[in-house]
Amino acid sequence: MKQIVITKHGDPDVLEIKERKDPQPSAGEVLIKVKAIGVNFADILARKGLYPDAPKPPCVVGYEVSGTVETAGPGVDSSILGSAVIALTRFNGYADRVCVSEKAVFRIPDPLDFERAAAIPVNYLTAYQLLHVMGGLKKGESVLIHNAGGGVGLAALDISLHLEATTYGTSSVGKHRFLMQRGLNYPIDYRNQDFLSSIMSLTGGKGVEVVLDPIGGRHWKKSYRALRSTGRLGMFGVSTVTDSTMGRLFQFIKLIAQTPRYSPLELMNANKSVFGVNLGHMWNERDKIGGWMQEILKGVEEGWVRPHVDRAFPLERAGEAHAYIEARKNIGKVVLVTGG
Ligand SMILES: NC(=O)c1ccc[n+]([C@@H]2O[C@H](COP(=O)([O-])OP(=O)(O)OC[C@H]3O[C@@H](n4cnc5c(N)ncnc54)[C@H](OP(=O)(O)O)[C@@H]3O)[C@@H](O)[C@H]2O)c1
Repeated sequence: MKQIVITKHGDPDVLEIKERKDPQPSAGEVLIKVKAIGVNFADILARKGLYPDAPKPPCVVGYEVSGTVETAGPGVDSSILGSAVIALTRFNGYADRVCVSEKAVFRIPDPLDFERAAAIPVNYLTAYQLLHVMGGLKKGESVLIHNAGGGVGLAALDISLHLEATTYGTSSVGKHRFLMQRGLNYPIDYRNQDFLSSIMSLTGGKGVEVVLDPIGGRHWKKSYRALRSTGRLGMFGVSTVTDSTMGRLFQFIKLIAQTPRYSPLELMNANKSVFGVNLGHMWNERDKIGGWMQEILKGVEEGWVRPHVDRAFPLERAGEAHAYIEARKNIGKVVLVTGG
């Protein structure tokens, strides 16, 4: 099989394609012949050495694939053989073959092709946990989605529209037209406008009920201020660490120094709450993840889950896919395809 290996921490050219022996599924696992792989921001952080959860190089990252089940391990019902599936892979996804527990595998609903199927798990599960499970967004409330044009951002927009909430989203201005076509009510050009002033003026000084913030550091302070009474701030990423050219250690020190500390008394008196989401740490909650995934796949059939693939790169050009995302060119998802 072919795998894309992070040979050491660094620029996209540290990603190299390697030929490896095909893996064999253990008990309870299936072997998937991979068609498409979702690229995530976490993969880029891992390549740069900025993602503490990633294995040490040389390593293979990748959280999600789509493909067909080629072999079933002992104890797995053989009726799954040949099925088109999506799978959550905790690393090793950048490959044309991968073994994964049958519990992390979901059949692809009819309307989806392999590329769009690979765009679903991480983006939609994260957005679902943020908005539905922890953020409790309701009909008639309002939500500010930062990075609205990114993979999680578009998924959050789909879910917010389905919940009949009013949507505000920050993104670079070139993405606004597309976002409005997808249904975003109020795009905010965060590069040329202060998003907090924009939100306050658009909401008559009230703020919004839910903010989703993957930027981190002092950005979280500002997002907290954009909350209306009863507001909930969902923190789920630290994209800001990639902005700096400083060494890794200094980047982390700067991040910690800028990260707000919330006091229970202050939260109580402000009628606000803050929460965090890290899907990568939900690996032991398969039943919950499975239930959320069933809801999301039902959303595909009902038409409100609309995964959008911006570009597909051949597996061997994974480095170009990373560079494309780092240049902030993508709207929605970037995937790798195996051609298999
Ligand atoms: N906690 C979790 O479970 C979880 C799961 C998935 C993702 N995440 C996090 O969510 C964030 C977005 O992930 P994604 O997969 O949706 O990303 P993505 O699709 O690659 O979106 C990246 C976009 O974010 C915007 N952006 C804003 N500040 C940025 C910065 N400092 N560096 C790079 N891009 C920046 C850019 O859009 P503009 O053109 O609008 O600037 C860029 O195109 C990342 O921080 C990721 O780690 C967390």
